[in-house]
Amino acid sequence: MNMKRRLSATSLLVVMLTLSLASIASLAQRDGRGDGGRREPRGPRLSFPLSTLPLEVAEPANNTQSPVKIDLGRLLFWDPIISGNEEVACATCHHPEYGYAEDLDISIGVDGAGLGHRRQFVTADPIPFVKRNSQTLLNTAFNGIDPSGNYDPASAPMFWDLRAESLETQALIPIITFEEMRGHAYSEDDALGSVVARLREIPEYRAMFANAFGGAQPVIAENLGRALAAFQRTLIANDSPYDRYMRGDKSAMTAIQVRGMQAFQDIGCISCHNGPMFSDYKPHVLGVRGNRKLAVPDEGIEATHAFRTPSLRNLAYTAPYMHNGRFDDLDDVLEFYDRRGGGRRGGNRDGLTRDQLDPLLRGLGDPDDFETELLEFLDALNDDSFDRKVPERVPSGLNPGGRI
Ligand code: HEC
Ligand code: HEC
Repeated sequence: MNMKRRLSATSLLVVMLTLSLASIASLAQRDGRGDGGRREPRGPRLSFPLSTLPLEVAEPANNTQSPVKIDLGRLLFWDPIISGNEEVACATCHHPEYGYAEDLDISIGVDGAGLGHRRQFVTADPIPFVKRNSQTLLNTAFNGIDPSGNYDPASAPMFWDLRAESLETQALIPIITFEEMRGHAYSEDDALGSVVARLREIPEYRAMFANAFGGAQPVIAENLGRALAAFQRTLIANDSPYDRYMRGDKSAMTAIQVRGMQAFQDIGCISCHNGPMFSDYKPHVLGVRGNRKLAVPDEGIEATHAFRTPSLRNLAYTAPYMHNGRFDDLDDVLEFYDRRGGGRRGGNRDGLTRDQLDPLLRGLGDPDDFETELLEFLDALNDDSFDRKVPERVPSGLNPGGRI
């Protein structure tokens, strides 16, 4: 055999070997477990680089951070004076004990008493439930951040259905929402005016708004939103073992957590849970069953049953999970993914057909094979060092946090 023929024979062998390896790999990937095609072929998966949260928080041009503004925002956040019956504060449903979320499937605002799972309605004919699970406020300063670390705080996406942009805009919405903070005290149109009038009557607030914003009449709704946003921009938890690992400390994560991180990428969780917040901030139809407590079903974004991908940071503090608190723990969430929106065992897709489910969900590999690793990896995304300070008093003299 001359040199040339030997070379081409070798390269043919290499090509054949590569081809067969590739087809084995793609079979295994399509099948999600590589054990002979017992499951349906899977859809697409996307790959993204892993990235960590920035150390600094960006602020919008029209609301720069200042210590006095942040202090004011903290007091307003804890003060039930901004609710109709003066019993509900932002902190009622976003409490540091529960990672600035709430240990309750769907929220109880007006007419409720108690904190977290102890909260219940206390009147005979109460205002209905808030239809969704309270989201954590930790790191909402970074909402919308993409895998390259770019984000714009002035247009940051908010809520499970992405219906608001920026912390400043979001902050005024619970105040005017009937079930959350308004109740029967005033109409939707009068809500902000009534709350502002109350704040103007309190000398301590007048002085703090003047210090924070200046101008002839600083106590206005816009500045109320700005102060609340400025405070929330300080609720940062960006020093998890994962963040430290990604910034170079390879001892920050255990070997099993590193394997979980790999599985998270290989299985395809990262198709939707990507970027530094582990969210693409896009809507996806997963088919999580509705919450039976709701009289009117929640059909998500434009009645498509889609909800925004949530962040996976700090899940240790924010159970229960999903837009309606349907799952009490992360084992249940993984079991849900194991069925990939129905699958052979069927039954978790809330009347949706399989075709209506997100192709990226249908394309998922099998989380069942890596359950321990995935749970350990999710644990590496918790940062315990966030601000848990509860003010001893608020300027209205009411109970900080409301009736909790
Ligand atoms: C009665 C409970 C309740 C009260 C009171 C409440 N919230 Fe919420 N909050 C929720 C729920 C539930 C959601 C999710 C709602 C949705 O997506 O439709 C939410 C969502 C948010 C979000 C969006 C987070 C994200 O990642 O998109 C922010 C920010 C927020 N709340 C801040 C506040 C502020 C500031 C106040 C006080 C002015 C407040 N909340 C009062 C229950 C409450
Ligand atoms: C198709 C996109 C997509 C894929 C793939 C995906 N998720 Fe999700 N994830 C979502 C969306 C959307 C929600 C919220 C669904 C809802 O509330 O109805 C969610 C919710 C969650 C929650 C609950 C978080 C909370 O705060 O309530 C966890 C935990 C989670 N996913 C982990 C994973 C893991 C682990 C994988 C891989 C096995 C995965 N996800 C794959 C989009 C996705």
